[in-house]
Amino acid sequence: MKTLELRGGTKMPALGLGTWKSEPDEVYEAVRSAIEVGYRHIDCAAIYQNEEDVGRALSDAFQAGDAKREEVWVTSKLWNDSHAPEQVRPALETSLRKLRLEYLDLYLIHWPVALRHGVLLPTGPEDFLPLSEVPLEATWEAMLKVSGQGLAQAAGVSNFSQRMIERVSEATGQTPAVNQIELHPYLQQGVLVQACKDAGVVVTAYSPLGSPDSAAMMGREDDVPLLQNPTIVQIAGAHGATPGQVLIAWALARGTSVIPKSVNPGRIAKNWDARDLTLTLADMTAIAALDRHQRMVDGSFWFLGETYSPETLWDE
Ligand SMILES: NC(=O)c1ccc[n+]([C@@H]2O[C@H](COP(=O)([O-])OP(=O)(O)OC[C@H]3O[C@@H](n4cnc5c(N)ncnc54)[C@H](OP(=O)(O)O)[C@@H]3O)[C@@H](O)[C@H]2O)c1
Repeated sequence: MKTLELRGGTKMPALGLGTWKSEPDEVYEAVRSAIEVGYRHIDCAAIYQNEEDVGRALSDAFQAGDAKREEVWVTSKLWNDSHAPEQVRPALETSLRKLRLEYLDLYLIHWPVALRHGVLLPTGPEDFLPLSEVPLEATWEAMLKVSGQGLAQAAGVSNFSQRMIERVSEATGQTPAVNQIELHPYLQQGVLVQACKDAGVVVTAYSPLGSPDSAAMMGREDDVPLLQNPTIVQIAGAHGATPGQVLIAWALARGTSVIPKSVNPGRIAKNWDARDLTLTLADMTAIAALDRHQRMVDGSFWFLGETYSPETLWDE
């Protein structure tokens, strides 16, 4: 299985299973069937509110002998309400307890956005804390500390711009191992991907299939859903593959890790088989032309009031 080497030498399996929006009653079977077909990387987060069910699945899979703990890469993420340095360790310990694990392979700062402690999703401007009050540098330092204490093998960030990565790296002398960001043919972010690579930061692509199941939640209308884009469908047909497989193979060919979400055993298996699909140079060129800087997860839920804006969040 293809792996990507993180700073410090640990190897992260390039293809993993996403679990956002996977209902608690579905995610157990999803994780079990993913491990059965060969996945060794599960992407979780406290805010997905399904870590207990993921944990049950992991524990049962280990007990059944489907895989050993040390063979499965488990990522989780610090929620925005726990950015204060003293809240980082308790938040990580809660995720570990729910996931029934002694350590995470990777712990990420989920967003460069801080919420008041106890707020899951903001309903008004009063729910936000400015980064001047809870600086990313301080949160990052606390992430390094818990990682040094053995609770997470590696620490990283998510939804960070190049400038934010530089800021936390300069403040602490330690660069995040991973930046998990939205990446797919409609949002290719070539400059940020290259900047991460140049800084030795491994990139994980989220929403690689265009996140069709988040459209309603995000108030989005997808005119041509990525999975139905004629170029993607045509390339899939030419290879006898599915559009989903083309999108996953594209992410792997770019040298990124990729974490498609599915709770459907058939699609989980098909997505896994995308490892065997090699796209041609002509395929890559045709897909490069699809870029339209379209975010599926545009962060608009952080823009209630004036604490955060698209300019400060995305640095663009
Ligand atoms: N760090 C962050 O801020 C962040 C943000 C977003 C996502 N993520 C992570 O990235 C993961 C993936 O992103 P995502 O969940 O937004 O979206 P995604 O993986 O791009 O798309 C998931 C959707 O595609 C469907 N699907 C899966 N495989 C398919 C296939 N082969 N053919 C057709 N449809 C298929 C799924 O339905 P079924 O389940 O019914 O198969 C689901 O509706 C998340 O689950 C999460 O772990 C992280």
